[in-house]
Amino acid sequence: MNIAVLANLKEDAPVNKEDPPGRWDDLDDRGTVDAILLALHELGHNAQYFPATLDSINDLRKFAPDLCFNSSEGHYGDSREAQMPAILDSLRIPYTCAGVLGMSLSHNKAVAKKMFRDTHIPTANFVVVRDGINIPSHTMKYPLFVKPAVEGSSIGINDAAIVYNEEELVRQVKYVRSIIDSLILVEEFVAGREFTIGILGNEVLPIVEIISPTGFYSNSQKEDLNSQVRRISPAPLSKKDAVAFQALARRAMNVLHLYDVCRMDMRMDAAGKPYVLEVNPIPLMDPDPNQASLIFAAVTAGYTYRDVVRKIIESAAHRWNLTLN
Ligand SMILES: Nc1ncnc2c1ncn2[C@@H]1O[C@H](COP(=O)(O)OP(=O)(O)O)[C@@H](O)[C@H]1O
Ligand SMILES: [Mg+2]
Repeated sequence: MNIAVLANLKEDAPVNKEDPPGRWDDLDDRGTVDAILLALHELGHNAQYFPATLDSINDLRKFAPDLCFNSSEGHYGDSREAQMPAILDSLRIPYTCAGVLGMSLSHNKAVAKKMFRDTHIPTANFVVVRDGINIPSHTMKYPLFVKPAVEGSSIGINDAAIVYNEEELVRQVKYVRSIIDSLILVEEFVAGREFTIGILGNEVLPIVEIISPTGFYSNSQKEDLNSQVRRISPAPLSKKDAVAFQALARRAMNVLHLYDVCRMDMRMDAAGKPYVLEVNPIPLMDPDPNQASLIFAAVTAGYTYRDVVRKIIESAAHRWNLTLN
């Protein structure tokens, strides 16, 4: 097949003075795109990289892809992850991962949480806050956790993200607001262990436990390649808990209209009850398992990087009724 790999590389990201640190952390390194291309070539496909921008559209049409491997995060606006899917829909070109709806629902964590609430998927109680002055009255129990309602890579999450009283809450909301122009999610702190669960095609991968020295996964830890954060997979859980967590992950994927691959972040409370924190519709595909939890889980399941790419392609081909050749 002709497969176009669409991505926004970190090295091509626009630079703005007002950007918070880590603003483009969720974009791909060139090495990741090269690894995807290599896997596609080894699988016998004619694969080529195109920057996921409007400037590429003519070249993309000339290449006439049978399928796009979509890893594009976009740059601006709350449609940024949905922009490529919208363009590809209008060009009638099939692509991997979620469409406009799934990208939009998962981009906004508050909207995703409302979907979870509606479908009885446990998620921490929350309020959405605009600024430090107008914090709505609420009945949530401290400690609370403060984070941007959009963006990933723990942007705006520093060591003071956990707050124990109203004064700290107001201070932290102001801090997040000062570094990012976004609605802010204030939610109950889920005090137990942290997990991330990848889904590849129809298969829920082994659960990865994330162990961080501070108890939660801040931006500086995600940026620091040598941070003390550790991953363990399969997570040491009872069979019963593991099956229940994986079933929850599968339901969250369906509720948010995600396809082919995704990764959910979850935590358990002190009593061991699981809560979904958020869902990533385009999980990081860095070939280094120590950088990418999805790949870490896939390796645990006995898959190679090429298997991961193959399974994403197979899932998309099935959905779009394409014959793989
Ligand atoms: N309600 C919460 N309770 C405890 N920790 C949380 C909560 N929300 C987020 N965190 C911590 O912050 C990290 C980043 O939050 P997450 O919602 O996954 O956003 P991101 O898109 O930045 O990864 C999580 O991995 C977790 O360690
Ligand atoms: Mg996360």
